[in-house]
Amino acid sequence: MEPALETRGLGYRYGDREAVADLDLRVERGEVFGFVGPNGAGKTTTIKLLLGLLRPAAGSVRVLGRALDRDREAVLRRVGTLVETPALYPHLSAEENLELQAVAFDAPRARVAAALAETGLASVAARRVRHLSLGMRQRLGLAMALLHEPELLVLDEPANGLDPAGIVELRLLLCRLAAERGVTVFLSSHILAELEQTVTRLAVIRDGRLRYQGTLDELRRAHSGGLRVGVGDVEAAAQALAAAGLAPERIGPGALRVEAASAEDAARVNARLVQAGVAVHELRLETPSLEDVYLRLMTEGR
Ligand SMILES: Nc1ncnc2c1ncn2[C@@H]1O[C@H](COP(=O)(O)OP(=O)(O)OP(=O)(O)O)[C@@H](O)[C@H]1O
Ligand SMILES: [Mg+2]
Repeated sequence: MEPALETRGLGYRYGDREAVADLDLRVERGEVFGFVGPNGAGKTTTIKLLLGLLRPAAGSVRVLGRALDRDREAVLRRVGTLVETPALYPHLSAEENLELQAVAFDAPRARVAAALAETGLASVAARRVRHLSLGMRQRLGLAMALLHEPELLVLDEPANGLDPAGIVELRLLLCRLAAERGVTVFLSSHILAELEQTVTRLAVIRDGRLRYQGTLDELRRAHSGGLRVGVGDVEAAAQALAAAGLAPERIGPGALRVEAASAEDAARVNARLVQAGVAVHELRLETPSLEDVYLRLMTEGR
């Protein structure tokens, strides 16, 4: 099946300011995909390009297997979006806003109540939007995006304005939509840690350029400090590990470092050494925190 979202060489400029450059994104169907970068990185600009709200200066966008520049209207009916502040009628109630959306999208009337319930808004359904809090408006924006049961959700910083409980509910809702209905979710955030428990894969951008695309595990692995191994006999240990193709590096009188990124890797190294009759007295995986990895990505090559 074609990917849910695919860009090739995507670029955009505001005047002479390059906001997005040479961006290749690929989001498979059914994924919860994170799009991360600091303020001004180009997340909103990219999302607007994905939705045809801006016209690319370079490159192409495919959404749900269709070329966006050819099939925009048809394909966007299968997409739910939340970009910046949701477009709402302030003098109408939450429910009335959703009813209008249901008409516009030909969604069944029953979806209004369902979307209110899914986003935790049932108790304020009759309240006018201008009397809703920021977080409630954000939830309503999400309800609007979900209303017509889209195959793909594109959400720009959906956690903005939500309280901690709201963020947890959002995470659960998005994971449930992906797992139970096969919905693809593309969501941006400027906080990597916020996506840690939600996403299957992610892209990191900085200054409009892709810095990373893959799983969180691969990202950690790429920045892992390796496995510190404390042994009695460094010579024998180095030999045993080299024989296993592990390229050990001596870092002290009784210590070696080898490339490793998971507890399984550590267990394999231990088993090798024990088989070779080497006494192991320390095994420590130097895993950087997600924060460290992100910081490194944001400062590397600066
Ligand atoms: N309408 C505009 N006119 C000129 N420059 C713009 C405009 N919108 C954004 N930019 C610039 O383009 C770059 C990318 O902005 P964008 O809004 O896409 O970033 P972002 O990653 O969404 O940031 P944030 O986390 O703050 O939402 C920034 O340098 C920004 O100043
Ligand atoms: Mg933004």
